[in-house]
Amino acid sequence: MAKMKSVQVAKAGGAFEIAARDVPEPGTGEVRVKVEACGLCHGDSLVKDGHWPGIQYPRTLGHEIAGTVDAIGAGPTIWKKAQRVGLGWAGGHCGLCAACRRGAFMACRDARITGIHFDGGYGEYVIAAGVALAALPDEISFAEAAPILCAGVTTFNALRHTSARAGDLVAVQGIGGLGHMGVQFARKMGFKTVAISRGADKEALARELGAHVYLDDSKGTAAAELQKMGGARVILATAPHSPSISALVDGLGLDGELMVVSGAPTPMQVSPLQLIPGRRTIRGWASGTAADSEDALNFCALTGIRPRVEAFPREQAARAYERMMSNNARFRAVLVG
Ligand SMILES: NC(=O)c1ccc[n+]([C@@H]2O[C@H](COP(=O)([O-])OP(=O)(O)OC[C@H]3O[C@@H](n4cnc5c(N)ncnc54)[C@H](OP(=O)(O)O)[C@@H]3O)[C@@H](O)[C@H]2O)c1
Ligand SMILES: [Zn+2]
Repeated sequence: MAKMKSVQVAKAGGAFEIAARDVPEPGTGEVRVKVEACGLCHGDSLVKDGHWPGIQYPRTLGHEIAGTVDAIGAGPTIWKKAQRVGLGWAGGHCGLCAACRRGAFMACRDARITGIHFDGGYGEYVIAAGVALAALPDEISFAEAAPILCAGVTTFNALRHTSARAGDLVAVQGIGGLGHMGVQFARKMGFKTVAISRGADKEALARELGAHVYLDDSKGTAAAELQKMGGARVILATAPHSPSISALVDGLGLDGELMVVSGAPTPMQVSPLQLIPGRRTIRGWASGTAADSEDALNFCALTGIRPRVEAFPREQAARAYERMMSNNARFRAVLVG
């Protein structure tokens, strides 16, 4: 049987190792994708460190996948060999339950998450459910498309499901993989866009990405600064750090929404009295369906939004991961080839 190179972890907390694995065969309704690029997402740490229940190891990580259709399993399909496609976190779901029929795939009890329930894009090939694939627009390269399949669709979809309207004050906290896409989307969606980071390092880049205002929250002053501007209609929280998210509640204006996409594993702390007078809400959002990914990709093609990527060969996955986890990547590390 043909073999492929795969970067896997053998156990929770284990190091990355390069393994020779069988090239998998697609089953009914499935497609084999040759991976051309795969982004590294902070969410991968949930798998690497064993924070997600029920993961079976060894596991090949990676859920920001761009590539080409390489083989097609039995059954009806819309995909053609060699077509450029993408696969995100939503790797498959039952399609029948109430959650699925409302597009809330993560609430499906049979949700299959790419790189968690089955092997992901740190390997040379992945098996994808045909319904989970998104078509890539021609004008977006594989390396740029990959981060749009998670960092992009998550921030795009979260923002477009808020109550913010053109001209509203929208802040994005944490200028990393998700946040640098969030800033670009907020700007192109017509919001007065605030980037919230720590220190001055990212100010020039955040302004290049479209931020009208840059706030250095290293001393925890961002909420007060937002209030001076009238209070935010929406704060999109991406930092994997619950205390700094909690502290932003006081930056919301009347009917303001704290939209949490960060996957921080510890509790947030908020008093009801911070919510009641200003009718503020806190909500979460999980990336999106394949159709949402296509919307995000097409919006990027339309507006010129692109992720800023650092490319690494697959063999250097450990180095690429370290750059992300140490907050040095500008802004998304991507495995290519
Ligand atoms: N909801 C979903 O569907 C979904 C999808 C993908 C990822 N996620 C989650 O989203 C989060 C961000 O992922 P990512 O890939 O964007 O990560 P990332 O590239 O590492 O960026 C995270 C950013 O958060 C800020 N940050 C990091 N540590 C912090 C701390 N201790 N206090 C305050 N800010 C801190 C940093 O920005 P500054 O340097 O600007 O402060 C950093 O660049 C993760 O928790 C991930 O699991 C959720
Ligand atoms: Zn992700």
